[in-house]
Amino acid sequence: MNSIARYLQDELPRINAFLDAQTARLDPVVRPAAQHVLGAGGKRLRPLLALATARALGCAADPYPLACSLELLHSATLLHDDILDAAAMRRGRAAAHLEFGRTGTILAGDVLLALANRLVADYDIPRLNAVLAEAILRTVTGEIMEIASVRDTAMSQERYYEIITGKTAYLFQGACQCGAILAGCGEAAEQAAHDYGLNLGIAFQLVDDALDYVSPLEVTGKPSGGDLREGKMTLPLILYLRTLPPAGRQELEDRFTRGELDADAARQIADQVATSGCAEATRDAARGYAALAAQALETFPPGPERELLADILDLVLSRNK
Ligand code: FPP
Ligand code: MG
Repeated sequence: MNSIARYLQDELPRINAFLDAQTARLDPVVRPAAQHVLGAGGKRLRPLLALATARALGCAADPYPLACSLELLHSATLLHDDILDAAAMRRGRAAAHLEFGRTGTILAGDVLLALANRLVADYDIPRLNAVLAEAILRTVTGEIMEIASVRDTAMSQERYYEIITGKTAYLFQGACQCGAILAGCGEAAEQAAHDYGLNLGIAFQLVDDALDYVSPLEVTGKPSGGDLREGKMTLPLILYLRTLPPAGRQELEDRFTRGELDADAARQIADQVATSGCAEATRDAARGYAALAAQALETFPPGPERELLADILDLVLSRNK
């Protein structure tokens, strides 16, 4: 068993029990949507990052409320994201808004967001809330930028990186930096935790965007080519468009911009993007960010948690769902 599996075996029951206790107390209007998203078998990566960083840096406080607040926040963003994306599926199940309606799902996201903030406020460490609030703001800003750039084939690679850093990496960064703050470890170690989390998060989203072009429904719980259908300009597509001759590029750009790609067309183009090597090139870019995260991690005190954080980097790079 690798270090992540071992850690999860010990920690998952406590994380899940904590989350169950929080959601059991919610109003029945929002409880089903909240339980649906939290019970759908997520990887619990963000809580794991908060726990491991806090412990690696010598945390003496109870890290579970912080760790679970990260999962509550992440779940809140997914509930809202699936409405914004009009997504039908999440983690192999019907998206919550289709099962429980938009009202209950939007409110469930709001409640989970508030709950996460309250859990962190209970530590009475103002910087924890400040860092988390910044991470949430950056997450929303990333999402706003992504929506503003939908079907924009002129979108630059720089803007793409701004979007993924915002919508995904800042919550990873928040998990790690808050773990460091809870450990009371001092400025340099807090900066290292920040750098590890941010670069890991960028790598994670790059791999996610590559997987959207290569992984079939049975593996990811989401049909391939989803980003194409949703009009999202992600790195594999940005790179692929550059490989096409002008006429072919114009034709694909026009179909993408007009939203003409149905599920079959999107799957077909996704296959071409994968064959062209552009999904793999996106994974290469992820490896570059993971190397930066590994560099930040070298400054952590050696021990089982540092090893775990290194294994998480490998897992993020090698995952196929
Ligand atoms: C998933 O991306 C979405 C995000 C990582 C961020 C979503 C953020 C918001 C909806 C705004 C913030 C909301 C709250 C409650 C603070 P994706 O659509 O590329 O991935 P997917 O394929 O998993 O849906
Ligand atoms: Mg989405």
